Amino acid sequence: MASRAEITVALDVGTHRTAVLVAQRVAGTPRITGVGTAPSRGLRRGAVVNIEATVHSIESAVREAERMADCNIRAVLVALGGSHIRSLDTSGMTPIHRHEVDLEDIDRVHAVARAVAVPEDREVVHVLPQDYVVDGQAGIRDPYGMTGVRLEVRAHVLTAARGAVQNLVRCCNRAGLEASQVVVAPIASAHAVLTPEEREIGAVMVDIGGGTTEIVAVRGGAVRRVSVVGLGGGHVTGDIATGLRTTGTEAERIKLRHGHALAAAVRAGEHIEVNGIGGHEPRMLSRQVLAEIIEPRAEEILSLVRERLEESDLIGALPAGVVLTGGSASLPGLVELGEKVFRLPVRLGEPHRIAGVGDVVSGPMWATAIGLLELAGEESDDFELPDGLPAGVVTRFRNRMGDWLREFF
Ligand SMILES: Nc1ncnc2c1ncn2[C@@H]1O[C@H](COP(=O)(O)OP(=O)(O)OP(=O)(O)O)[C@@H](O)[C@H]1O
Ligand SMILES: [Mg+2]
Repeated sequence: MASRAEITVALDVGTHRTAVLVAQRVAGTPRITGVGTAPSRGLRRGAVVNIEATVHSIESAVREAERMADCNIRAVLVALGGSHIRSLDTSGMTPIHRHEVDLEDIDRVHAVARAVAVPEDREVVHVLPQDYVVDGQAGIRDPYGMTGVRLEVRAHVLTAARGAVQNLVRCCNRAGLEASQVVVAPIASAHAVLTPEEREIGAVMVDIGGGTTEIVAVRGGAVRRVSVVGLGGGHVTGDIATGLRTTGTEAERIKLRHGHALAAAVRAGEHIEVNGIGGHEPRMLSRQVLAEIIEPRAEEILSLVRERLEESDLIGALPAGVVLTGGSASLPGLVELGEKVFRLPVRLGEPHRIAGVGDVVSGPMWATAIGLLELAGEESDDFELPDGLPAGVVTRFRNRMGDWLREFF
């Protein structure tokens, strides 16, 4: 059985599905040895609303992954989702003690930026440096070793509802797991799908899941905005169930098999079979009618993303365009619809393939879990856990995550 020290485990508790990946690191390169999934039943718009049901999903997914990897999972990196996640710009300033910036100065200036005032019921989850200023000279990516008397950092702070973080950690604990690190889900997804060029030139990662749509705008190698819209593929399924007067299960099946986000792109005359409710005979339906139900909801979701980007004046600052990921990004026609809504280049973002049992782990629905595994490879100690978690339930996982974020975001 693989020992605990050798493995890294990513846990993505999504609204639609709970996913676990177990990876072993050989010379720094992860290799997936275990995969587990279970339907999620205890979340709404990315946040836990039913502890029992969520613990049950986590336990099922973890057991499956443990069996495949032949290991015992004790600690996990867990993705935090939900429309309660917000982001804001902040800054910090400190004197440079020995007139040459060292790691202590950098730690201190991060601590100042982190001390931003947030309401009682919220907490700071991450501080993502954007750039540094030494004696008024701005635009410095890495101030280490620079001469000066005053160091400033401009950073982006991610905050979350305190209760939502605690509920997620509690579910992990109740499932017998230690949450060694909580990472905001869209940050993990963005890491998995954005290329270095896109991060530099300016692009936005849009992860459309089951209950939420997560947005990360990146430019100049730094995160500029993180936002979560409380709508996702589950709402599309709900519309289909209502529109076709059928069950949620049947609506989901039809969406996955025949769904299209652009009614105009569907050939007229194509028909699909819909199972009736309560013993009613199956009936035939035009596929265009199905697309006419899907399109307005898909357009609404993408338009809300566009609005969030406009609010922060970012829409004109993202020439590399939009990268769609998350399970719902697989919906045919969504890329084309996105090009109409954003008037920017749009592509489908598939996470990198990781060696091992990687065949199962492919496609945009894996972006968050794969991003978590990749982030775990980098060590840091300034990527702190949220404050206010029950003592003893969370250990601080010292890894290079913060350094990575400094480098790429
Ligand atoms: N091929 C497909 N076509 C259309 N939709 C799909 C496809 N595959 C998966 N989906 C949809 O993707 C959604 C699930 O995606 P994902 O696993 O990324 O969500 P999640 O992480 O559980 O939810 P969230 O991130 O919103 O909390 C479901 O609504 C599902 O119907
Ligand atoms: Mg998700």
